[in-house]
Amino acid sequence: MFNEKSNEENMILETKNLTKIFTTYDGKDLVACNNINLKVYKGKTLGLVGESGSGKTTFIRMLMNLEKPSSGEILYHGKDVNKFSEKEIWENRQKIQMIFQDPWAAFNPKMNVLDILTEPLLNYKRIKKSDREKVAAKLLKMVELPEEYMYRYSQNMSGGQKQRLGIARAISLEPEILICDEATCALDVSIQKIIIELLVRLQKEKNISMVFICHDLALVQSFAHEIAVMNKGDIVEIIDGDKIQNASHPYTKKLIDSVFSIHMEPYKKK
Ligand SMILES: Nc1ncnc2c1ncn2[C@@H]1O[C@H](COP(=O)(O)OP(=O)(O)OP(=O)(O)O)[C@@H](O)[C@H]1O
Ligand SMILES: [Mg+2]
Repeated sequence: MFNEKSNEENMILETKNLTKIFTTYDGKDLVACNNINLKVYKGKTLGLVGESGSGKTTFIRMLMNLEKPSSGEILYHGKDVNKFSEKEIWENRQKIQMIFQDPWAAFNPKMNVLDILTEPLLNYKRIKKSDREKVAAKLLKMVELPEEYMYRYSQNMSGGQKQRLGIARAISLEPEILICDEATCALDVSIQKIIIELLVRLQKEKNISMVFICHDLALVQSFAHEIAVMNKGDIVEIIDGDKIQNASHPYTKKLIDSVFSIHMEPYKKK
């Protein structure tokens, strides 16, 4: 299903020996990410699983330029992002978008949905002010929210509706990569499923790549093309999303054993 060699020209982001070392309160080194080598391919989903504290969020914070790596490289279309100019960083910020874990904390309560959806587009001068309503209506339709919600405030929406709003805002800038850090884990299982189906549909329509962080291996394997397994800062194994039963690392096997009482129907992958 996932042939890396034939996909090499479709690789859009690559990390090389990406490392982050924090200094703890007692002056010791804590290696949150240790020599991470991962690749993100056009239109594909990379799942990232691992126990709490294994370094998943630190890894994506480095990808989002929110955390400076201690060493190593992030190559975006072959170019080291640490060597980007201020202008390139600003331009690039549109290309990698994130959906947050906590839909309750993701939005400014003083902004209505129309403002939330169009502010990034206005900032990047991608739309005219007079087109705001038209653009917001289109985005709401994409995530299957009623058009009249544009005049609502996010605090008057459910968790699932807010997560749709977060998705609409993230895709408004037509990103190449969508990063989801436990983006569905705060939701009920039934809503979680609907949100993932929505993400998979949008991914196919727009050929977006996803990095999907989740501690739930059974859920991730239902739609990820590749899964990287992280343990204490190390990537211990990268497995094909269709073949996790072939995993060989003892830590991955432990994760599989702990979840395979749960059965998930696979979502259709490309
Ligand atoms: N700013 C920081 N300063 C010091 N240590 C940090 C900092 N951020 C994260 N860490 C530590 O780095 C390690 C990895 O944390 P990280 O948040 O990346 O884990 P995670 O895999 O996302 O966990 P979870 O599943 O709980 O979200 C942890 O031991 C954490 O305490
Ligand atoms: Mg985390």
